[in-house]
Order: sequence, then C-alpha cells, then structure tokens
Amino acid sequence: MAAQVAARPRIAVLASGRGTNLQALIDAVAAGALAADLAGVFSDRATARALDRARAAGLPAAALDPRAHASRLDFDEALFAAVADAGADLVVCAGYLRLLSAPVVEAWEGRILNIHPSLLPAFKGLRTHQRALDAGVAEHGASVHYVTPDLDGGPVIAQARVPVAPGDDAATLGARVLEREHALLVAALQLVATGRARLQGDAVFVDGAALAAPLQLGAGGGLA
Ligand code: GRF
Repeated sequence: MAAQVAARPRIAVLASGRGTNLQALIDAVAAGALAADLAGVFSDRATARALDRARAAGLPAAALDPRAHASRLDFDEALFAAVADAGADLVVCAGYLRLLSAPVVEAWEGRILNIHPSLLPAFKGLRTHQRALDAGVAEHGASVHYVTPDLDGGPVIAQARVPVAPGDDAATLGARVLEREHALLVAALQLVATGRARLQGDAVFVDGAALAAPLQLGAGGGLA
C-alpha cells in the first residue's frame, strides 16, 4: 500500500533545465490554483535555469553534483536527504534528466510524480517529439504519472493530447505540447494534493474508483 500524501503537501521539484513546468507550479501556488506549497527546487545541474526561477520566487534552490558521489545510489540518497530536510512530502520531476535508483523511488512510492512529453506508453525515454514525427502519429501529447522503478512506466494519472500538424518539426510540435504540459501538471497535481488521486498497487484511484484509462485534459483546462 502506498503512503498517503499529506493534506496541502509540501512539494519538492526536481529539474535539470529551463524549468517552465516549475514556473507553472510557482504561478499556480501563487494564484491559489494548487493546494500545496513548494518546499524547494533541486537539480543535478548548477546552471539549470529552474534554479534561477526558484530563487526569484524566494524558494530554496540547491544543486548537487553527481560527480561528487561514488555511485548513482549515493547521489540519489544525498538528493533525497536534501528533499526530506526541506520538509517535502511529495516530489515532482519536472524535466529532471537523471535516472532515479530503485530504492529511492520505492521509498517515495505514491508520493513521486513525473511529467513526460508523450502519450505514454508511447515514446518512453528521450527525443519524444522527433520519434512521434518519425512514427507518423496524428496525435501526440504529454502524461503525468507516478514514478516507479520502471522508467516512464508508472501508472498514468492524466494526459494532454495535441494534434500533429502538417509541416511540424520537433521544435514546433514540442512547443505545442509544452503549452499544454503546464495546465496538465497543475491539474494532475491538484488532484493529488487534495487527496482525490492516489496510487494503490498498480492503479491510480480518483475519487475512490480505479481509473480504467488516464484522465484527459480538456480545452478549458479541466480533467475528465
Ligand atoms: C518537459 O517537456 C517535460 O515533459 C520533460 O522535460 C521538459 C522540461 O521542460 N520531462 P521544462 O524544464 O519544464 O521547461
């Protein structure tokens, strides 16, 4: 049985890069659209723009250097010790580019989520926009899912779908997906933060019922 998420959880965000999803969370908390507080932002890259966004918002921001640790597990234990020290009870990977080791993921089961730029289970891993184009799909998108030791394979809470347009390249398609990611991440996290969504075994439960398929982000920003 997965651990319960606290009421009005304190969220730690893991980010390696530009941090637009982080910014969406910062803005949503400030606007009262997300019933949570941000405990801090943690990165494996000292130069991540996400850290600047965190500092600008007055949040604790820290980078840990993977090269200063003997192993992946060693690094992850240090990272999650910092996350716990910040008082976080929920972790969100938002553009966090390092694999997480299984013991750490298992310790946070049900309390760690990721946003991935594809309609999972399609296109796990990297370069998802180019791979979607190469595969000739008509529809692409993003997914918010619970993190399990199976990379990009954890139970999906919600997805945002976008059409692939004629003439798209990875940049134009990626930009169209990213725009929807921000609303998707906030909406999915709001379900988790308010206790409406939770992981139980391998299933996502929303309002007490197991989801047969991921919720979908509507045009108005709601999940159905
Ligand atoms: C997003 O596309 C997210 O889905 C993926 O990495 C990207 C991060 O973008 N995991 P940003 O750093 O939030 O702008």
